[in-house]
Amino acid sequence: MNPKTTEWSKLDFSYRYVPYRFHAYWKDGAWNSGKLVTENKLLIDEGAVCLHYGQEIFEGMKAQRSEDGRIWLFRPEENARRFQDSARRMLMPEIPEELFIRGIKETILANKEYVPPYGTGASLYIRPFMLGVGENLGVRPAPEFIFIVFVTPVGPYFKEGFKPISLKVETYYDRAAAHGVGAAKTGGNYAASLLPLKQAREEGFNDVVYLDSVEHKYFEESGVANIFFVLKNGTIATPKSDAILNSITRRSLVRIARDDFGFTVEERQISVAEIKDFVEAGACGTAAVVTPIGSLGYKGEIHKFYADGKEPGPITRKLYEHLTALQIGDVEDTRGWLKEVV
Ligand code: PLP
Ligand code: COI
Repeated sequence: MNPKTTEWSKLDFSYRYVPYRFHAYWKDGAWNSGKLVTENKLLIDEGAVCLHYGQEIFEGMKAQRSEDGRIWLFRPEENARRFQDSARRMLMPEIPEELFIRGIKETILANKEYVPPYGTGASLYIRPFMLGVGENLGVRPAPEFIFIVFVTPVGPYFKEGFKPISLKVETYYDRAAAHGVGAAKTGGNYAASLLPLKQAREEGFNDVVYLDSVEHKYFEESGVANIFFVLKNGTIATPKSDAILNSITRRSLVRIARDDFGFTVEERQISVAEIKDFVEAGACGTAAVVTPIGSLGYKGEIHKFYADGKEPGPITRKLYEHLTALQIGDVEDTRGWLKEVV
């Protein structure tokens, strides 16, 4: 892509080649210091554990510009921490926060002209990931690991942008098991979601909401985002579960809603039987930002929320507007969540 001719506000969520990425290597118990490279293809062993047994983890982050053109990350140390949590669960070496953040910042600065301009709604998506590589055949941890950061300019994940989507509450397939790897950001969770996603799309839904794998009774999360609901009494409720990804966007929204706007926010098990009490619903995540859920399909019945599922609800809108303004420096960052990329 040519950053001089790109129509930033028209970008979708897909991969576009930009010149630089960061590679670091772990061998014999230590990470090297890493470096920027231009090659976007990898040469790894055909027996590499990541290819056969899924020893792989990743993160998703965004860099955005404020009105004065400076570039900002949103709570990157939380992604560094979650990457370490995922690494421990998948028996991979932890990346020191310093290396994680340096790799990200070097990659962004090397590709600076690909960070979309302020006010276009686009951002530079950042994908740090780690692969278990090296010769292998048996099921055991990889002998070597590669840490990579690539970046690519993106628009909204759900192509409609801030418009209500329709999700299918999945009653047969599970995304993650109770004591499985649902809380780790690892490829297998997403591979498991491909078939239910395909079926949901064929039925006319945008994506899937999963239920707990033990009783199929409690909401968990969507395929690429956590979820929240606004109840009739104005309370905001969001599922609590050890099998979902610990979304940084969701945790940020909880604090904004509670402390800045004075909402009551409940983080608890939410039963599907409560669906009739929802007046708004939303999905939240780095890629999804805050996406209104206009309707949920459950056991063949469509449950519509605010404005018959056609418009974003006022509380969902308020959260979306505040979060997006905060992330580009348009409202004051009272918590030190923004970190400048310099
Ligand atoms: N849940 C899943 C399955 C995800 O892939 C993501 C995306 O990162 C999220 C939730 C949202 O997490 P975060 O807000 O930290 O991006
Ligand atoms: C993100 O929101 O950054 C994610 O990682 C979701 C991704 C699967 C698109």
